[in-house]
Amino acid sequence: MSSPEEAAYRLLTEYTNGFMVSQVLFAACELGVFDLLSEAPEPLGSAAVAAHLGTCPRGTQLLLDTCVSLKLLQVQTRGGEAVYRNTELSSTYLVRASPKCQGNMVLYLARTTYLCWGHLAQAVRDGKNQYRKAFGVPSDDLFTAIYRSEGERVLFMRGLQDVWSVSGGPVLEAFDLSAFRLICDVGGGSGALAKQCAARYPRCRVTVFDTPDVVRTAKEHFPIPEEEERISFCEGDFFTDPLPEADLYILARVLHDWSDERCSHLLTRIQRACRPGGGVLVIESLLDADGRGPLTTQLYSLNMLVQTEGRERTPAQYAALLAPAGFRAVQCRATGGLYDAILARR
Ligand SMILES: C[S@@+](CC[C@H](N)C(=O)[O-])C[C@H]1O[C@@H](n2cnc3c(N)ncnc32)[C@H](O)[C@@H]1O
Repeated sequence: MSSPEEAAYRLLTEYTNGFMVSQVLFAACELGVFDLLSEAPEPLGSAAVAAHLGTCPRGTQLLLDTCVSLKLLQVQTRGGEAVYRNTELSSTYLVRASPKCQGNMVLYLARTTYLCWGHLAQAVRDGKNQYRKAFGVPSDDLFTAIYRSEGERVLFMRGLQDVWSVSGGPVLEAFDLSAFRLICDVGGGSGALAKQCAARYPRCRVTVFDTPDVVRTAKEHFPIPEEEERISFCEGDFFTDPLPEADLYILARVLHDWSDERCSHLLTRIQRACRPGGGVLVIESLLDADGRGPLTTQLYSLNMLVQTEGRERTPAQYAALLAPAGFRAVQCRATGGLYDAILARR
């Protein structure tokens, strides 16, 4: 039995060391540990892993054993040697060949998000995202900073795509969308959610609306199969250019990037473009009514502070943006997953 003081110290240590846990995962992904072990015909010892990866044997062994404690790897002894293989978790979410692999998101978090979080205190002081401090790029135009190179744009789009391989089903099934035949995914990025939407609702057509650079990158790196004629791309600026006509506008992880003023402006533009009887589906991670949880969404909200101009919001805060823009009958559905859905009617 530990005293309350000891328990508090243990909790404090867990928090102070939390970044080390992330770094173990980031490094193992970056080095290709999980892919190597999934492709190997049998479990590998740490010397064999080091030889394949061209890494230092001591560092490799320390990394592998820590991955075991984190349940990212399993270890067993064969012929007196410790050999490692993937766990269910890493096989499902960290091996590139898995349809649910989150590897691009992990790399994006490691290479970009983590560096912005290094300036969290500064972000709390000045209320600004931290691209200037982390990467030396000005952030006067948010998405110019986010897409500061072609490689960064591709990684960001790949990372965002990964999440929908797990969370796409629950958010698209939160409401029956079968009555909406013409759908526009506003700020739809690579088209990952549009593809799932088209697969789930066979009678709909989906237009992905995004900036010209993103549409070009999507066509080059995330091609839609030729036989899939129900998905198309449309390029423009959603704050200024005409929006495609639709029955349903999807806004997935878009409003959380922006201030209330910018969100109101965008929602008003969508309301004007929306066909009568149509609606808007907002997909975001919802805060509890009092804003004090869930912890993951609070952390996402701080992430919006260091990486964007926005924040995560409560259902009431989304309703307060939707109603003045002319949307009614606002319904919220928590999915139990990372992302939730709000449907509102024009
Ligand atoms: C956080 S991402 C979300 C992407 C996608 N909806 C998803 O959930 O994976 C925000 C998207 O909004 C797009 N975007 C940002 N500003 C835009 C603008 N002014 N006009 C059109 N698209 C914009 C970005 O390019 C990006 O694809």
